[in-house]
Amino acid sequence: MEITASAPGKVILFGEHAVVYRRPALAVPLNDLQATVTVTRVMGLPGEIQIEAPDIRLSTSLSALRGDHPLAAVIRGVFTTLGITRPPACTVRIASSIPVASGLGSGAAVSVALTRALSAFVGQPLPDEKVNALAFEAERLHHGTPSGIDNTVITYGKPVYFVKGQPVEHFKVGWPFTIVIGDTGIQSLTREAVADVRRAWENDPQQLEKVFDQVSIVVQEARQSIECGSISALGPLMDENHALLKQMGVSSLELDRLTETARRSGALGAKLSGGGKGGNMIALVELGDVDRVAGSLEAAGARRTIVSRIG
Ligand code: MEV
Repeated sequence: MEITASAPGKVILFGEHAVVYRRPALAVPLNDLQATVTVTRVMGLPGEIQIEAPDIRLSTSLSALRGDHPLAAVIRGVFTTLGITRPPACTVRIASSIPVASGLGSGAAVSVALTRALSAFVGQPLPDEKVNALAFEAERLHHGTPSGIDNTVITYGKPVYFVKGQPVEHFKVGWPFTIVIGDTGIQSLTREAVADVRRAWENDPQQLEKVFDQVSIVVQEARQSIECGSISALGPLMDENHALLKQMGVSSLELDRLTETARRSGALGAKLSGGGKGGNMIALVELGDVDRVAGSLEAAGARRTIVSRIG
């Protein structure tokens, strides 16, 4: 018997980092990239679980993983939630086209796909709220103090307007728009970027709170523009959000270079997306300009570009 489940990557359109401090943020699933988990029944003693994740060069039994390893936490969390003490012996294969440590939700996507595959494997598929809660616990191990936006947008697979601690709200996209995602090729751990912002906030809470409030205004305006389909208004809002992220200290030379390159080659606006300090940036682009902007980003050093249609 074999069960497979997949989950998408994600892009934060507006509001990363400030969202950790209870300001709103907008995120969408990125269906072009997926994490896939296959659970296969094997001969063996109940409770024997083998994990194969070649993308991160991991081949191990569950019992050899530390309790605070995010994969172990998800697997044990699923069985505890379902009240299963001795699950059937199985092999768990994890594959993902989402680059790790790049701001596109690779960790959360694996947690969601893993939760769905395992719970279906034992014949008790978990509802979205439980999947989301388990993926959030794993995010805590990945990131320390996550807002929960990554696991939420990936679990529900729909655009979310997210405020930490509040019920999930979805937003509609009034008119589809296109983003080009550019990868700096520099891996960056969200945990570290979040910790850097925390230090900056501890040093000067007043200043950082002001920046977060400004992000909050940008996010509200962006949501309105997306819902009414006034896409051209989004470009300047992306630029403004990038400038605010720079003030938080989470941009980098490469992210600044790529966002500037995108603007100069015709993008309506651009910003880093996700944790920053490396990882990915996004540019809002009119359909006719996609090839030029993507080409310029690659010429300026982007490791790769992905074109995504939102809505
Ligand atoms: C990471 O995708 C988004 C951050 O805001 C962290 C979080 O919300 O947990 C940087």
